Amino acid sequence: MDDYDLSKLLDKPDKPRLNIERQRSFDERSLSELSIGLSRALDAYETAYSPGRSALDTPVSSARNSFEPHPMVADAWEALRRSLVFFRDQPVGTIAAYDHASEEVLNYDQVFVRDFVPSALAFLMNGEPEIVKNFLLKTLQLQGWEKRIDRFKLGEGAMPASFKVLHDPDRKTDTIVADFGESAIGRVAPVDSGFWWIILLRAYTKSTGDLSLAETPECQKGMRLILSLCLSEGFDTFPTLLCADGCSMIDRRMGIYGYPIEIQALFFMALRCALVMLKHDTEGKEFIERIVKRLHALSFHMRSYFWLDFQQLNDIYRYKTEEYSHTAVNKFNVIPDSISDWVFDFMPTRGGYFIGNVSPARMDMRWFALGNCVAILSCLATAEQAAAIMDLIEARWEELVGEMPMKICYPAIESHEWRIVTGCDPKNTRWSYHNGGSWPVLLWLLTAACIKTGRIQIARRAIDLAESRLLKDSWPEYYDGKLGRYIGKQARKFQTWSIAGYLVAKMMLEDPSHLGMISLEEDKQMKPLIKRSSSWTC
Ligand code: GLC
Repeated sequence: MDDYDLSKLLDKPDKPRLNIERQRSFDERSLSELSIGLSRALDAYETAYSPGRSALDTPVSSARNSFEPHPMVADAWEALRRSLVFFRDQPVGTIAAYDHASEEVLNYDQVFVRDFVPSALAFLMNGEPEIVKNFLLKTLQLQGWEKRIDRFKLGEGAMPASFKVLHDPDRKTDTIVADFGESAIGRVAPVDSGFWWIILLRAYTKSTGDLSLAETPECQKGMRLILSLCLSEGFDTFPTLLCADGCSMIDRRMGIYGYPIEIQALFFMALRCALVMLKHDTEGKEFIERIVKRLHALSFHMRSYFWLDFQQLNDIYRYKTEEYSHTAVNKFNVIPDSISDWVFDFMPTRGGYFIGNVSPARMDMRWFALGNCVAILSCLATAEQAAAIMDLIEARWEELVGEMPMKICYPAIESHEWRIVTGCDPKNTRWSYHNGGSWPVLLWLLTAACIKTGRIQIARRAIDLAESRLLKDSWPEYYDGKLGRYIGKQARKFQTWSIAGYLVAKMMLEDPSHLGMISLEEDKQMKPLIKRSSSWTC
């Protein structure tokens, strides 16, 4: 294992420690984004506090001084710091869960790339960017490893799902082991890791104003390697990215193989982040061109075929089948009988969402939280679609949030379908874990989406719910049940991303300018191509 000091990877000396002032500095592009974001957020505040609003829809927390830290915040910071992982005395990440009571550690003692994202954002927002930089460089080194599963060699660009630091107290050495899918349950490579890495690199750059990290040849190459994996040509007829089941946050078989929304939304966001960070040199330019083309096709495909609202559902319900040729309306030959009953009751007259998956003769109409929130943050959703997603969350609050924000997906699959789709997975029984469980980590994504769409009161309601349980329950990984009332059957306690997710949500609400780290403004060149449907205008 060829591990050397992080600082050697960059031959430039480290920048002096950044202070809060510096953290607020942005590049030109960011400034305009920031001012738009800020004015939107301020508008939203005004709406939330406007005296004309009835007491009924005023959330409890808006009455109290929002700038007074909640007592839970200090506990959360302490727990987050306890989860730090060091490599040769430098912090390089946070452990997934610090649960001493749990008999089985499994791989929860590792640093997961996706789990570290909310930790990283919390540190960035707190003016502590060093750990984020260390993490980005450490994972970049890991990307360079040769990755094998049995006799098969994995693509060069693959980023690990997780890594672990092994301390040898006798020899006083630290070594790293990483998992690219070869140890993971199901042996699936994490498609989301590389996308999160790119998204985090932009968040770091945006937050610190330090362009030098993203501009290093190592980071530029890291990005290109990730991109060449997902932009490569093959037999695809769709611009979406074809995936195996369980290749993202939902890392077990859950019927999300094909074109899962979580990956498509992260793919879109990572492409847009890479676009602003890639250098316009010979190699960079080639990728920039490919990205622009792909974004164009991807946004059209997603906005047209993944979008579901009342009108669209009614259209699909009336679809004819067996249509051939270019004039086909039902392009994927979806048989209306395959639409599950629940969706007809679930769909509000006003509102909509990106469905779980679209492939030949298959529309998985389940609602997934992460994909829809990331679609809002990346502007994969048009402004109207973003507002409609929030309308739906409001209209279906009990189903999607209930007593703990928020459901990873809705609804759960049960009985025969559960047997077939999950392969009888005992961890993913109905309304548990990935199968309709409620994940506190999603609070930060919900809050970010709320700020972006100017729906602060929704975020406040969600945060109030989280505050009534999380600390008391020792920061569980997930909750079970239709309303998310029960601590999850096999949920870890002191799950780091539950802790960090809460902190990020709180900090963003206190200072909405933080949103710029994780949100992109609409690209005027990518005009919305979908027709307006009635639910957006009524
Ligand atoms: C579980 C989750 C996954 C997470 C990991 C570590 O495997 O499904 O999303 O990254 O735990 O917390």
